[in-house]
Amino acid sequence: MSNTLDPKVIVALDFAEASNALSLVSQLDPKLCKLKVGKELFTAAGPQLIETLVEKDFQVFLDLKFHDIPNTVKKACQAASNLGVWMLNVHASGGSDMMQAALEGVHNSQQNPYLIAVTILTSMSQDNLTELGISRPLEEQVTHLAKLTQTAGLHGVVCSAMEAETLRKAVNDDFLLVTPGIRPVTASQDDQTRIMTPEKALTKGASYLVIGRPITQADDPLSALHNINADINQYTS
Ligand code: C5P
Repeated sequence: MSNTLDPKVIVALDFAEASNALSLVSQLDPKLCKLKVGKELFTAAGPQLIETLVEKDFQVFLDLKFHDIPNTVKKACQAASNLGVWMLNVHASGGSDMMQAALEGVHNSQQNPYLIAVTILTSMSQDNLTELGISRPLEEQVTHLAKLTQTAGLHGVVCSAMEAETLRKAVNDDFLLVTPGIRPVTASQDDQTRIMTPEKALTKGASYLVIGRPITQADDPLSALHNINADINQYTS
């Protein structure tokens, strides 16, 4: 099966406790998906959970979105990389110096995880930017921060699938676009408003798809994952 080498689906483990996350993970297969651990689960379960997932051969995206002074972010990225994660992230709005320091931290770790950045959170509106003193149109600011991320030497950005097409034209082909807000046609929309199917997101230039509830809340999570992988099989390698 071609998607066993580099699964495109990153399952978002949005759970409050390690036990619930591990119960879901026991139904999944590291050849079919990667996993994302965010602030809630990491704060509750700690680095030990990450090590457990890595021992189970899963590639883990540690989604902690670091944003602090460069030296602090550098040390945090080094510590996160030492856990053996596959990907980690920072906020691009921390600036070039912070992103370059983050990259240094990753390199110091002797591991080789992808380091990506969040541009503008999709929960932010133009009004929120204005409030912060940013007058540039939101879409332009997203592109600006993605280019800044690329120039700083990072490997990609997290972005809405809706932004993927525009960003893909603005950045290099190998720059990673990691997109949440993905829903198979048959799945519930949940609280996501601007959604895209897995197939369409990849067509628009997404590199990896973050998918949570359509898999984690499915009656049969493995079969939900299999169905998504079957839909996107032509894009996997
Ligand atoms: O369950 P669902 O597929 O909506 O989960 C999507 C995951 O992606 C969650 O972990 C959510 O926090 C994250 N995310 C998102 N939208 C963004 C950034 C991250 O849904 N703009």
